[in-house]
Amino acid sequence: MSHIEITTHDRVSTLRIARPDKKNALTLAMYGELTTGLTAASEDPAVRAILLAGGADCFTAGNDIGDFVQAGQGSGGDITAPLRFLRALATLDKPVVAAVDGIAIGIGTTLLLHCDLVVASPRARFKTPFVDLGLVPEAASSLLLPALVGARRAAQLLLLGAQIDAATALDWGLINQVADDPDAAARAIAARLAACAPAALRATKALTRRPGRAGVLEQMQIEGEAFAERLRSPEAMEAFQAFMTRRPPDFSKF
Ligand code: COA
Repeated sequence: MSHIEITTHDRVSTLRIARPDKKNALTLAMYGELTTGLTAASEDPAVRAILLAGGADCFTAGNDIGDFVQAGQGSGGDITAPLRFLRALATLDKPVVAAVDGIAIGIGTTLLLHCDLVVASPRARFKTPFVDLGLVPEAASSLLLPALVGARRAAQLLLLGAQIDAATALDWGLINQVADDPDAAARAIAARLAACAPAALRATKALTRRPGRAGVLEQMQIEGEAFAERLRSPEAMEAFQAFMTRRPPDFSKF
């Protein structure tokens, strides 16, 4: 059963994360579907903008922790799937608008750094608890977050794993707008983009991304290698076990 719903309407392709029973946690298969959806949207001349959305009070709880465990044990599926999705998003030629309602954890927050415009509901919460999980940042967030919000605030997010609300995310420049109905607001923005001169829009996006692109892709690759190493670490295993048995992790023995 697919947990990514893809629809195209009025020149906007919508990719919706739909796995509500697991808080929209992203499995390797879901990353694969998202990558396929992005590629199809990029190649389809009838699509001019992309909308990325989740569900009610749940954008995504981040990577599926069960998949992390399997990857750390050297089993499971294609562990390059998240990186391929992030690369596809970071290099997409068409504009992407994200609609965030509720939780945006881990990659739920870091993927937003590669979207062009982000709308969130007042109940949106953003968190990047990589260190809490014995991991390191991904999606070039170790480069992009300090650049976007400043080194001090990035330390709150990346070192402390602090959770911020929609008002703070707006104040820090992580999102563009707070709206009671982020889906509708993001759809309206996507519709405006879809009505723009398409080649000028793509060229403008390309120009704004070009100066940082090589560094972003390189940082993503370096993070990916560190991430893969951390996945196999005893610290990460302790954090995953703690999550699955609903207890706090104990890092005192490391
Ligand atoms: N991976 C796998 N399963 C997840 C998940 C994740 N990232 N996040 C939530 N789930 C699952 C839970 O295991 C639970 O499954 P179950 O009903 O079969 O036990 C279900 O989703 C509901 O989650 P639950 O924790 O009961 O809901 P909650 O409202 O109390 O808390 C969260 C929601 C998102 C705050 C909490 O689930 C959480 O912290 N998840 C992990 C987030 C995370 O660290 N992501 C990785 C970032 S790199």
